[in-house]
Amino acid sequence: QKARIGVTGLAVMGRNLARNLARHGHPVAVHNRTPSRTKALVEEFGDEGTFLPAETPERFVESLERPRRLVVMVKAGGPTDAVIDEFAPLLEPGDMIVDGGNANFADTRRRESALRERGIHFVGTGVSGGEEGALHGPSIMPGGSAESYEALGPLLEDISAKVDGTPCCTHVGPDGAGHFVKMVHNGIEYADMQLIAESYDLLRHAAGLAPAEIAEVFRTWNTGRLESYLIEITAEVLAHTDAATGGPFVDVVLDQAEQKGTGRWTVQTALDLGVPVGGIAEAVFARSVSGHAALREAARNLPGPSRAAAAGPGFADAVEKALYASKIVAYAQGFHEIQAGSAEYGWNIDLGAMATIWRGGCIIRARFLDRIRAAYEADPQTPTLLTDDHFAEAVGDAQGAWRDVVATAARLGIPAPGFATALAYYDSLRADRLPAALTQGQRDFFGAHTYRRTDREGSYHTLWGGDRTEVTA
Ligand code: 6PG
Repeated sequence: QKARIGVTGLAVMGRNLARNLARHGHPVAVHNRTPSRTKALVEEFGDEGTFLPAETPERFVESLERPRRLVVMVKAGGPTDAVIDEFAPLLEPGDMIVDGGNANFADTRRRESALRERGIHFVGTGVSGGEEGALHGPSIMPGGSAESYEALGPLLEDISAKVDGTPCCTHVGPDGAGHFVKMVHNGIEYADMQLIAESYDLLRHAAGLAPAEIAEVFRTWNTGRLESYLIEITAEVLAHTDAATGGPFVDVVLDQAEQKGTGRWTVQTALDLGVPVGGIAEAVFARSVSGHAALREAARNLPGPSRAAAAGPGFADAVEKALYASKIVAYAQGFHEIQAGSAEYGWNIDLGAMATIWRGGCIIRARFLDRIRAAYEADPQTPTLLTDDHFAEAVGDAQGAWRDVVATAARLGIPAPGFATALAYYDSLRADRLPAALTQGQRDFFGAHTYRRTDREGSYHTLWGGDRTEVTA
């Protein structure tokens, strides 16, 4: 018997993906660099389906039906290249290598093009949902050729999460499109997490609520428009008591957030594409600030306002509104980045389809994604989600509370960079005139960088050092 698909790299994500495939009735070949892992998988879970363990790359490749489908689940970067170098020589034209790691999309483009020359399809695939998702149904974002999706799509859709019967998996676009979209998913994940963290901080320090009380607030929010996996797990974390101290778990965790890089890539890429993603950037910077222990220690005694003025009743509702509005901004920025990436690389990504496959399985799954799907259905070319009827109305309703929350945070000295940058972005887009006109004047003054006028075409320069007449540039 041959395997329909194979998985190499059997750390927790690879192992769970292989089990998911087997549980769905797909015979799956399994391989790991250290064979003990392969053995352990088959011993522990062999009764869940048909596993074909292989000790060597050669045996692994031999055990796959043709065209071969080979899923690589190893660390992004060097380890992925090493595995490709090891397996590609054993493959034949028409075979497929699926990279399910969190690869940088630029690496995926490079690998795809190198393997395409040898007739091998390289399918950079975003997989979201952590260990549980991999086992019970992740959100899957495959890139690569349309031809490879014909052979892989049905399998991947089969093991993905489903929402209203629709699989959380679709062909994103050619070469690096899948990993690009996964990267932005993670950037949005960072922003969403940061906004939730700021909400917690404000409820704690402006409203004076205890973690267990805040958990209840989040549980209530989770029955409304904010319903999402991240809100749900936030309540769980806040309600958790530390066994050692008997106090709230959140109080014994070191307040220095770590990151593996996908959020940073999202911002770096946005800078290259010229897309403003302040919400995601502030989330990355907030983690960075938190980790600068010595800097924070040095600055600890800088003066701040008195925190005597605690927030009044209704504050939690105001925070809910600020969170919803800021979240819309973060997603609008993320989708703008996907739109820009798609245009830059000619991927032709269907934005509504991305919202659709994020409704289940992934870390940012949320009720609200149905609204985003509907917004792109109503207008696939919408320049920003903020102008969609539903979102415009929601933000319009929320804006008073949103401003109050940002003002309260500033007044009480509670950092809320995510809320503040989201509001500033909203007000920037709304503005009739931006002070960018002054920026242009300054640039022209010190560097003769020229400016354009509102009343006629062309580029101009004022002779600032001379008689200040205007000349055509
Ligand atoms: C997912 C997650 C996953 C990973 C994050 C964590 O979609 O399943 O995004 O990919 O857990 O990348 O990222 P940080 O370690 O950078 O927070």
